[in-house]
Amino acid sequence: MGKLDGKTVLITGGSSGIGLASAKLFLEQGARLAITGRDPDGLARVREELGGDVLTIRSDTANLTEIASLMQQVERRFTRLDVLFVNAAIATAAPMELVSETQFDDIMGINFKGAFFTIQKALPLFSGAASIIVTTSIANQLGSPNFSVYGASKAALRSLVQSLALELISRGIRINAISPGPIATPIFDRFGLPPAVADGIKTEIAQKSPSKRFGLPSEVAKVALFLASDDAAYVVGEEIVVDGGMSLL
Ligand SMILES: NC(=O)c1ccc[n+]([C@@H]2O[C@H](COP(=O)([O-])OP(=O)(O)OC[C@H]3O[C@@H](n4cnc5c(N)ncnc54)[C@H](OP(=O)(O)O)[C@@H]3O)[C@@H](O)[C@H]2O)c1
Repeated sequence: MGKLDGKTVLITGGSSGIGLASAKLFLEQGARLAITGRDPDGLARVREELGGDVLTIRSDTANLTEIASLMQQVERRFTRLDVLFVNAAIATAAPMELVSETQFDDIMGINFKGAFFTIQKALPLFSGAASIIVTTSIANQLGSPNFSVYGASKAALRSLVQSLALELISRGIRINAISPGPIATPIFDRFGLPPAVADGIKTEIAQKSPSKRFGLPSEVAKVALFLASDDAAYVVGEEIVVDGGMSLL
């Protein structure tokens, strides 16, 4: 018996990295699944990889009209939602002086505003006990030079999870966060840095980590499964850190 048998799940940013690993695990555990991303080619590849009857939807989480359309499509297919995994995000690097308004708005628009309105627009689809999981980051509590906007977007999400936990629990909706440390996903290649610099950062992080390695997306997915499932029925407003000990330093 799967831990998500009969449950309907939407994962934003389910076409890569942590979201994709979670999609695979959730499917194995019996979920009926919808995932989003922006890149149609990436989504088509993932649809093939996941097989079965996964609903793949191209939807920009920064765009409220697209979020509304996403929820309509999910409702048409599943009628209701049991689990929402708010995971889509971007991380681009720049020192304070070089952060443009566009970069600031892109990061906050996707990572915070997009997450906020994804949750808001999904609420009518929840009909009983439900779980919302938000991917934050250890950058929300550590100083992160050159990632000040990203870190702040994730700190905003941590705060949001605490407030919504109290707003939503009376409706049977649990909301919790997962806070990953360094996880081996394509996000590091999307920092907007030259490959040699990105590789240098990765090596430095792995050396610094108490576990001396990056985490695997599947190791985060297992924590997401716990929070999604009834095993976490009494876990409310928490943030589970999955970082190999990095944030203890
Ligand atoms: N990897 C790490 O070390 C790490 C550490 C801490 C926190 N995190 C967090 O973990 C989550 C997943 O990251 P990841 O490492 O798995 O990164 P990833 O491999 O780059 O995946 C990001 C996913 O988000 C989607 N996405 C990005 N912008 C979007 C938008 N505007 N609308 C819809 N989808 C969008 C991407 O699809 P498209 O490209 O097609 O849009 C992709 O599916 C993020 O919240 C990230 O901040 C990661």
